[in-house]
Amino acid sequence: MRASQSASRISRVALALALLTIVAAGCKPAALPDAASPDAQLYVSRCGNCHAPYNPHEMTAAMWDTQVTMMEVKIQAAGMPALTSDERESILEYLKRNAGTE
Ligand code: HEC
Repeated sequence: MRASQSASRISRVALALALLTIVAAGCKPAALPDAASPDAQLYVSRCGNCHAPYNPHEMTAAMWDTQVTMMEVKIQAAGMPALTSDERESILEYLKRNAGTE
């Protein structure tokens, strides 16, 4: 009897942990690819301050071209420093390398 009581306590704890994990995963945006790479960090620092950084998988390479151009307008309108051509290139390269296909 004691053994089965502690077993059910353990499974309740396991269930609670599993639920917590699901809730936490649901709230957190999917991790960015190569999150520790300098390109990803540049992307987060330049493209993650007005909104959370979008996952590169969410758009195709062609869409990223357009999107970055549109965001440069927003960056300028917000009075933020414009992307340098190096930054633009690294960010686009990072987005395209990890872009979705549709
Ligand atoms: C100055 C603030 C600002 C910065 C910096 C910024 N964005 Fe945005 N972004 C916005 C706003 C505001 C929207 C909401 C959509 C709109 O108004 O067009 C948006 C929307 C988006 C969307 C969603 C568009 C859609 O059609 O769903 C993507 C993707 C995006 N931004 C990517 C980027 C990328 C990539 C960068 C870096 C080059 C960036 N953003 C930097 C303000 C910003």
